[in-house]
Amino acid sequence: MLEQIEQLDIQSAADLDAVTTADELEQFRIKYLGTKGAVKGLMGLLKDVPKEIKPQFGQQANALRQKLQAAFDEKKKSLGDASPAKSKKASQIDVTEPGLPASLGREHVITQTIDELLEVFGRMGFDAVTGPEVEDEYHNFVALNIPKQHPARDPLDNFYLDDPYQSDNPHLLRSQTSTVQIRTMENTEPPVRVVSIGRVYRPDEHDATHYSMFHQIEGLYVDKKVNMVDLKTTLVQFAKAMFGEDAEIDLVPSYFPFTEPSAELYIKMQIRDKMEWIEIGGCGMVDPNVFKAVGYDPEEWTGFAFGLGIERIAMRKYGITDIRWLFENDTRFLKQL
Ligand code: DAH
Repeated sequence: MLEQIEQLDIQSAADLDAVTTADELEQFRIKYLGTKGAVKGLMGLLKDVPKEIKPQFGQQANALRQKLQAAFDEKKKSLGDASPAKSKKASQIDVTEPGLPASLGREHVITQTIDELLEVFGRMGFDAVTGPEVEDEYHNFVALNIPKQHPARDPLDNFYLDDPYQSDNPHLLRSQTSTVQIRTMENTEPPVRVVSIGRVYRPDEHDATHYSMFHQIEGLYVDKKVNMVDLKTTLVQFAKAMFGEDAEIDLVPSYFPFTEPSAELYIKMQIRDKMEWIEIGGCGMVDPNVFKAVGYDPEEWTGFAFGLGIERIAMRKYGITDIRWLFENDTRFLKQL
């Protein structure tokens, strides 16, 4: 029985001598010192060892374990952080080969556009605010002066989370960031000058220009004697900062329940080799009913608001022709931007 220990001692010393790499050392550790290794195996034999030599057997087995552990530690140190270059295979490595370039991550083009918008509007004195993506009907429609029969409230055109026929104020995924106008005014005394950027949701069939989730930027400016010229000036500044000094804007009369008068915003920008007019959102003077809903006196306060599609801006700016590419996250596409 005691010979077994001796044999193991000799065998392991020889094995350890032959070890030259970290891998081999690990094999050695598993073979001798691992939970199923030879030393543990010795301890398992203990119950069959004749009583007279039991203490001696135990002592010697223990001593061997300590010796092997120490020898293992020593070897590990001497191998250092045995990198391949230091091991036997060093001669096979051509150190003059150019290395693999580390591939760097980058910001998604939508994130880049959002940062740029916040920067441009930040310079014009707009603070950034946010609101919840799960909204209630009150903030998404009612307070924005969108009446019950309005087509925008059609349950088929919205992601309702509660049954709109059962609940007084059902929850839904917000369909527009105009909700944040209401939430901001509910919590802030005028004057107010904010932009809010975030996701909105509509159950649209996915195609090159539609997606069931996209981003909007909402702007709101409330003060005394705000007028259309302030709105137009702000939008001109924005267009030039975002699309270059040649950019122009046009406001085309339109209708939104929460603004009066309302307009669609067109921006003339460079698309490849020519200038083109592109519709990127809506705007107008805040409707007195919206002020009433949030407890602002419409006789005292005036304001303008706008809401623009971020994907539209990014797609035009970078010449992207299919909105789905923005969300498929194919890095071969994203890397180009
Ligand atoms: N909320 C509108 C939409 O999603 C966009 C919009 C139009 C926002 C006019 C505004 C605005 O703030 O004044 O289609």
